[in-house]
Amino acid sequence: MSPILEPFTLGDLTLKNRVVMAPLTRSRSSTEGVPPDFAVDYYAQRANAGLIISEATNISPQAVGYAYTPGIWSDAQVEAWKSVTAGVHANGGLIFLQLWHTGRISHPDVQPDGQLPVAPSALKPEGTAFTESGMQPHVTPRALETDEIPGIVEDYRRAAENAKRAGFDGVEIHSANNYLLEQFVRDSTNHRTDQYGGSIENRLRFPLAVVKAVTEVWGGGHRVGIRLSPATTEPGKTPLDSDPKATFGAYVEALNAFGLLYVHTIEGVTQQTRDVPDSVDFGQIRKRFKGAYIGNNQYTLELAEKDLAEGRADLFSFGRPYIANPDLVQRLETGAPLAEAPKPYWYGGGANGYSDWPGMNGPVAIKR
Ligand SMILES: Cc1cc2nc3c(=O)[nH]c(=O)nc-3n(C[C@H](O)[C@H](O)[C@H](O)COP(=O)(O)O)c2cc1C
Repeated sequence: MSPILEPFTLGDLTLKNRVVMAPLTRSRSSTEGVPPDFAVDYYAQRANAGLIISEATNISPQAVGYAYTPGIWSDAQVEAWKSVTAGVHANGGLIFLQLWHTGRISHPDVQPDGQLPVAPSALKPEGTAFTESGMQPHVTPRALETDEIPGIVEDYRRAAENAKRAGFDGVEIHSANNYLLEQFVRDSTNHRTDQYGGSIENRLRFPLAVVKAVTEVWGGGHRVGIRLSPATTEPGKTPLDSDPKATFGAYVEALNAFGLLYVHTIEGVTQQTRDVPDSVDFGQIRKRFKGAYIGNNQYTLELAEKDLAEGRADLFSFGRPYIANPDLVQRLETGAPLAEAPKPYWYGGGANGYSDWPGMNGPVAIKR
């Protein structure tokens, strides 16, 4: 048996194996951000993972950046998530909710009253936004006023409370992939001159206030993880920070004060490459962070085994492989081939290409 498929103790949780289902936005929620009934099947079928991280979930209407993504601010959303967590638990799994604010990676068409997306600074991102009327160029966001920032911290607090009510086992704070928290952390996207910009300490002020609020809700950091992507260039091709080693080194040190359960890193650029520039050091992050370390990006069982043997990570998250292989752990165990999901199924649509992928021995049976 591969050591990757053996149990792992993560804080006070016992994971069946070291396989984590990475967060995967699938854009199947209603326009009100309510996950569909068939999300229960989708997540329950994947309860073979040691831990599931849900798709990124908007903390407030202002946080929305993509059409048909779920939220965790309304009672209807909480009720729908309750069914999902119950489905995962009935099948022996564990599930954390990923808390999301997209910041500038948004568009007026997905914002309340068509308002401009908000960001630390009024800097337009490259690329396009996914709206109900298709892909549209990003716009220049509105820079947040200093006195608006504590209100967003409160939105995170409420979302964390709602995640608890919805029966999640914990939450993951999405501070990666150039969404709002990372926009504050990086000096290319944060040009503020108030206490939330300038020095590293100032740029970390808002993300750390969020971590503080969320850990307060969860009775400490023992059920709270965080996602970081120090090497990402998204949404473009150029590095996003003038000194990622210093910035993320300081971030990790500061996070240690909150007793977080894990750091979930994207090694390289999400989906694109595992190459890491000299300016980023994942070994340093692993060493300096006091909690567990989840590695991600293009992992195979073999690479995970190698990295575990070398002590580079504790847990390994798999994203794309979980789309078309609901029984991924069984396939890894038996060496069965992995199915690949064509891209049109990734974002948007219904149950087709989402909760109807068969396992290697036919439909995946789930308990209800
Ligand atoms: C369809 C799709 C949706 C994704 N949605 C999210 C998300 O909601 N939150 C997040 O942090 N990362 C998201 N990612 C990134 C994945 O979590 C992961 O980092 C990436 O797919 C690389 O891992 P893999 O090589 O195992 O697929 C998404 C990736 C894909 C392909």
